[in-house]
Amino acid sequence: MQTRFCFLMFIIVAMFVLLSATAGSVLAGHGSPRADKDGILLVAFGTTVSEAEKAIENIDAEVRTAFPETEIRWAYTSNIVRHKLAKEAGKHIDSPARALARMMDDGFTRVAVQSLHTIPGEEYHGLVRTARSFAGMPKGMTQVVIGYPLLASTADMERVVDAVLANVPAERDKDEAVVLMGHGTHHPGNIYYPGIQYFFSRKDPNVFVGTVEGTPSLDDVAAELRARGIRKAYLMPLMSVAGDHARNDMAGPEEDSWKSVLTKQGITCVPVLKGTAEYDNIVAVWIDHLKSAMAQFE
Ligand code: CO
Repeated sequence: MQTRFCFLMFIIVAMFVLLSATAGSVLAGHGSPRADKDGILLVAFGTTVSEAEKAIENIDAEVRTAFPETEIRWAYTSNIVRHKLAKEAGKHIDSPARALARMMDDGFTRVAVQSLHTIPGEEYHGLVRTARSFAGMPKGMTQVVIGYPLLASTADMERVVDAVLANVPAERDKDEAVVLMGHGTHHPGNIYYPGIQYFFSRKDPNVFVGTVEGTPSLDDVAAELRARGIRKAYLMPLMSVAGDHARNDMAGPEEDSWKSVLTKQGITCVPVLKGTAEYDNIVAVWIDHLKSAMAQFE
């Protein structure tokens, strides 16, 4: 009984495979076979701060130089940012889902989606789910590949640490601290912040990574600075753009900004309002992730 059932199943599966193969050849025979049309979709969290757009423009220019033959489109993962831009600036930026749907309609067959996030957190994992759901849709893209965010592998950590250290203002003395403001998240991906701290500590013991919404906190960083008797600190965003968090939470005049809290602790603060995406040595890491993603095109 069992064997007969198995045999029956085999026949059904075999028929199905034959049927889909035939259907495939019928479709292919309907006109000439579809030539591949490749596209790149760059996906950032987004920003409503117009001065911070320099970072976005820099990535755009660098990716265009690296892939002059490929059409490049943009999407922002933050609905709040997109809606605010539309309402206040009349600027309409697609969500990843809308951008992919448009690319599908516009006949792209292979799309590389590059995450411009810093860590593989909620925004990145959400993007992966959205992108995957577009692969293999009827009359849609045949392949959708996804490039890792900035920090994915140990090699990325080491490379980004070297790049950030090279971007610290040259006038900083070794006994002065560099305090990096990461975003931080409740997502398990938050571990990338204490993770990269390890690689910074090995290269420069006075570099500290804090986060706005995760661990380590500003309190954690402030305690380290106190323990070392640090008198001066350069504050730099560990975020792609120097947007709202960098300008207000990090360097703003409010009492609870990082600058105010550390200044009250007797530390002279020098904020550097430049997102990581404004530095070509960091953008190069994202571009290499995009190259690896595109290498998966079959
Ligand atoms: Co935020």
